[in-house]
Amino acid sequence: MNQKRDPIGVFDSGVGGISTLREMIRELPDERFIYFGDAANAPYGTKSTQEVIACVRGVVEHLMKKEIKALVIACNTATGAAAATLRKELSIPVIGMEPALKPASQVRKHGSVLVLATPLTLHQEKFENLMKQYGQGAVKVPCPGLMEIVEKDDNAGALHYLQELFSRFDLDRVDAVVLGCTHYVFLKDMIRDLLPERIAITDGNAGTARQLKRVLAKADLLNGEGPGSVEFETSGTQTDLDLMKKLADFRTAG
Ligand code: DGL
Repeated sequence: MNQKRDPIGVFDSGVGGISTLREMIRELPDERFIYFGDAANAPYGTKSTQEVIACVRGVVEHLMKKEIKALVIACNTATGAAAATLRKELSIPVIGMEPALKPASQVRKHGSVLVLATPLTLHQEKFENLMKQYGQGAVKVPCPGLMEIVEKDDNAGALHYLQELFSRFDLDRVDAVVLGCTHYVFLKDMIRDLLPERIAITDGNAGTARQLKRVLAKADLLNGEGPGSVEFETSGTQTDLDLMKKLADFRTAG
């Protein structure tokens, strides 16, 4: 059996991880991906760590039956809650993600760095450790409700939410904004338009895709043959599935 041809499992609480998936497909076009959106259990970001671990276990059990060769947690919240546990339990590589605070800290001058993420991400020990290293000037900005707006594909609602959010800050004193939840990356153009041009916007998607490639190469699991493909699955409804496919602006096999 050629393990290199096995698919890569990717999951998030909903559509957010599709923003990560798009980068992974760009980086690794020959790979087969199975994307799972756990819409029935969304949102993760306002649950407790134990509740998120329980949701993640259900998703992973399902994906492992598909004989995946690697698992990507395309969700900052689920990574903080469950990545360490999964790495202990699974025999395949587990790739997670964290808010892109490091690149933001590198472009910071004397102002602040706004870290937009779910309440649970910002409460986790993993994030505290990141703050110790790269958190100078960083301000935690929990965004409860924002992932739900993305799940509803509600542009007017997103604009209203973000305008109110940024009105709380003196933007002349902000150097960078971190999109610390994969759902928020779908709002990047809107956020760009709301902010002065000199404010940098960072997210972890491209870094996660590069990390996946490095990990697969190291484990001799890269599929050099192609053709690549993507399948979508959800614990939610047909509407959830339709939005997943709409947001993935590439041809899919699923
Ligand atoms: N997309 C997820 C993240 O990156 C979380 C959304 C949620 O379920 O609250 O954190």
